Amino acid sequence: MRTRTLDLLLAAQGRYALGAFNVANLEQIHGLFRGAAEARAPVVVQFTRLMRDYAHPLMLEHLLRAAEEIYPEVTFAVHHDHGDEASCADAIASGHYTSVMMDASHLPFEENIAATRRVVSLAHPHGIAVEAELGQLKGVEDETPAAARNRKQGHSSRRGDALLTDPAHAEEFVARTGCDSLAVAIGTSHGAYKFSGNQRLHLDVLAEIKRRLPGVPLVLHGGSAVSQAELERIRKAGGTLDASARGVSATELKQAIALGVAKVNIATDGRLLWTRVHREFFRDHPAEFDFMRPGRNYMDEFGAFVAGKCKLLGAMGKSFSRGLRVKQTGRKSPLATSARAFAPSASKLERRGRNGSRKGHQGSSFRVSRSPRLLS
Ligand code: 13P
Repeated sequence: MRTRTLDLLLAAQGRYALGAFNVANLEQIHGLFRGAAEARAPVVVQFTRLMRDYAHPLMLEHLLRAAEEIYPEVTFAVHHDHGDEASCADAIASGHYTSVMMDASHLPFEENIAATRRVVSLAHPHGIAVEAELGQLKGVEDETPAAARNRKQGHSSRRGDALLTDPAHAEEFVARTGCDSLAVAIGTSHGAYKFSGNQRLHLDVLAEIKRRLPGVPLVLHGGSAVSQAELERIRKAGGTLDASARGVSATELKQAIALGVAKVNIATDGRLLWTRVHREFFRDHPAEFDFMRPGRNYMDEFGAFVAGKCKLLGAMGKSFSRGLRVKQTGRKSPLATSARAFAPSASKLERRGRNGSRKGHQGSSFRVSRSPRLLS
């Protein structure tokens, strides 16, 4: 059942975290839904701009519609991860997403606020929640000249490799943007190489953000564990990922959840698993060329991985089919209504598109208009 992201976040915060998995193909989507079904855990399905560009937004939306029918017992939300204004507007208009992330964290503080506010005003009338980010993670979000300026102006502080979220500014940012959840930079980065040396999560910064924003669900990006056992198997099967690859430990994840993290983003672990499964398969079966055989292995293994991760995050058994009890947090959100299923439907914007005014996808290299036939 497709469910509002904010309802799931509010039910989770302070108790457990939702696994938010970035997926881009049918094997990953099958694996994700199987894992969620096995763990009876609510999950967030995430598509980034790059993934929408790779597969085509319609392909992902329709794969998800199929998964919704195949696995009716799974409670899930649909999130556009790391959007810009154009891609958030497109995701909102599609009627398929229950939340979007407006990532303007590379912009100066005031510009980040202005851009996030614009997306909030577009999303909220459709019941869609907005995640925003303050501070910056390394990896995908490398420091830009604007971010450096931001840091000099004191809206975030540098410790180790990341540009950490400043708790006082986080409070101001949420109040002024009206965003529903906040991605915080507390020392993680995207990808397989998260930490240099002994650097770990800055839980003190997280605790202070939570103290200032008690009712706001916090999001941890860069949540992959980067299993050393997986890396070793990849190396044995011919891969060359180096030994400095590191992820977030299970202990740190649990500590972060206790301090208010309600959603943990995971992309890299799914890719490492994909690499290991396919490298081992073709090493062991050099004459094979049928993608479906390693594909089946990957679905099974990704499913087991998702189930295990949901268990670790405390989300096992938290799926619901007959309504959800949302813990009262004291914070009133425009979207914090009673739990209800989010029915994918054509929004006002999309209906306009059907009449021909909306051309193709913003933020996508595809130059194809949405097909009214496909949308009906
Ligand atoms: P990982 O690279 O740790 O999987 O993080 C992904 C992420 O945060 C996507 O938003």
